[in-house]
Amino acid sequence: MEFFDREKELVYMQRILSQEPRNIIFIYGPINSGKTAFITRVLDQMESRKYAVFYFNLRGYQISRYDDILDIFFEIDDEAEGHDIKSYLSNITDVMAKLAENALFYATGLKIPVPKAVFDSIFKEKEKPRDAFNYIEVFFKKLVESGLRPIIAIDELQRMKGIKTNGEFIDDLFNFFVRLTKETHLSHAVAISSDCLFIEHVYGVSRLEGRARYFKIDDFDRHTAFRFYRFLGFPEDKFELIWDYLGGKIGDILALEQDFKAGFDIEEQLRIMLRDEQNRLKKVLKVAKVVPPAVVIRGEKKELSLRDIQALLVRFKERDEVDVDDVDEATLRFLVSENILFFDPLPGIVRPQSRLVHKAIKTLELRL
Ligand SMILES: Nc1ncnc2c1ncn2[C@@H]1O[C@H](COP(=O)(O)OP(=O)(O)OP(=O)(O)O)[C@@H](O)[C@H]1O
Ligand SMILES: [Mg+2]
Repeated sequence: MEFFDREKELVYMQRILSQEPRNIIFIYGPINSGKTAFITRVLDQMESRKYAVFYFNLRGYQISRYDDILDIFFEIDDEAEGHDIKSYLSNITDVMAKLAENALFYATGLKIPVPKAVFDSIFKEKEKPRDAFNYIEVFFKKLVESGLRPIIAIDELQRMKGIKTNGEFIDDLFNFFVRLTKETHLSHAVAISSDCLFIEHVYGVSRLEGRARYFKIDDFDRHTAFRFYRFLGFPEDKFELIWDYLGGKIGDILALEQDFKAGFDIEEQLRIMLRDEQNRLKKVLKVAKVVPPAVVIRGEKKELSLRDIQALLVRFKERDEVDVDDVDEATLRFLVSENILFFDPLPGIVRPQSRLVHKAIKTLELRL
């Protein structure tokens, strides 16, 4: 599939990355909007002569302990001898060449290289993330000295929720990212997530001010979506109908394209997609009726009733978005985690995750 549009966003992001690192970059947006495709595209286009890109997508990993994170981030160098970090990193060009060769061989991205002895003794036994972060900082410093600007990017950041070290790992990571960007200007730090409530919950808005820059990858607007429909070869006379069901949600549009190319009728497929979404919603409500969902807010467990959930959903029958200050936090947290609602921190609004979800909410009978 050819990459479509996002030109403005690509240019803007490349400009930010070509400057000195000053802030953490948060890429956010509703589910299936193309965040991963976008950041992958941006990073692929960064010149390898000038940038060392470390991109970690946490999707597909089982992450339940600190050790799991170490395994994702680090590449253990079995051939490197001893504990001497300085001498290991003194020939950074060789280290990077070997790293690049392995990445090519295993078809993975670059990881942080570390001598086995250092990994075993310093990181693992003490379980102190600061040691690991200090090591990365020294490594990045060497990269910068050798003329390479590191970029560290973590996709699906919310999957680090609940990983415990001395405290919460995510807190340590945030402090490390501040250190890399705002304090030392050594490396770019990019975090990608569709769960903005999590980002705010962990970091707190006040802590983020002046340290982070939000960057939204949203569903396509109407104009761009129509160009995309044309690009994919949908018949012109179906554009309005497709927009009515799917709007500019790239993931949904591509799902429809697959059916269309397989010879299925567009109208029929749209109805099926809507029915599936309605069924998903009904199931969430049905489960909530039997087992009231519980949400933990600032250490306090809150149980939700079906009534609370329906009351929030009903508000989207007549409108597209709701001010976050008018929404019960626990209920919102639940519906965001179920991928039904999306919270956009910049304007402070809540809206359905997609036009299809919105249509499902509107057409569903919600008894209060
Ligand atoms: N600009 C684009 N042009 C063409 N295809 C795209 C574009 N952006 C995304 N896609 C495709 O749309 C699908 C969804 O994109 P992607 O996985 O990047 O979304 P996401 O926002 O990361 O989703 P999630 O919230 O699940 O992490 C993918 O199959 C991807 O290849
Ligand atoms: Mg993604």
